[in-house]
Amino acid sequence: MGIFGKKDTGIFQRLKDEHREVNSLLDQIEALGGEDMQEAKDIFAVMQEKLLAHAKGEEMVVYPRFGQIESLHELVLEAKEEHQIVEDLLAKLNADELEDNEWMAALKVLKEQIQHHVKEEEGEIFPRAKDEIEARESEQLATVYLESKGEATEEEPGESLESLSKADLLVKARELGIESYSRMTKAELIQILSVRR
Ligand SMILES: [Fe+2]
Ligand SMILES: [Fe+2]
Repeated sequence: MGIFGKKDTGIFQRLKDEHREVNSLLDQIEALGGEDMQEAKDIFAVMQEKLLAHAKGEEMVVYPRFGQIESLHELVLEAKEEHQIVEDLLAKLNADELEDNEWMAALKVLKEQIQHHVKEEEGEIFPRAKDEIEARESEQLATVYLESKGEATEEEPGESLESLSKADLLVKARELGIESYSRMTKAELIQILSVRR
């Protein structure tokens, strides 16, 4: 919220909000303490969809703009490398070959890696980018960023399941108590949700 109570709709606030969201889902998984692995993996599936969409949006829309700023050339390259490390860890967590305690250990490393990356973005990259990108352009970037992720900036009445992101479909499946939803494809989720809602 800005000083007049108006919501900040710029790219920097948007990315920060998404960082908080992913971190909170990771906290929820850790809080399970390995007791309920099905629940852990269900939350993981939601977290992963959000995280991958975020990283892809950054790479397609945000980093190319930040990379034009000379003092950010190196940091943007580093950030892309860190995205790759995160993707490799996700692949490991998805591989189905880890014991439960190994999976929880890999998740902890993933969380640490993400926190390191977020610290660099919010602590070093965003402040420098903010010096060059004025409020209007920041809002335009947010709009293009959300479009690239397939998320409309305004809520449409009577949204169809097809228009939702996979992360949102997973959240709905979780709310409805559908079993084993984390293993479903987007098409399967749409099919089961269209019957159940
Ligand atoms: Fe980010
Ligand atoms: Fe990032």
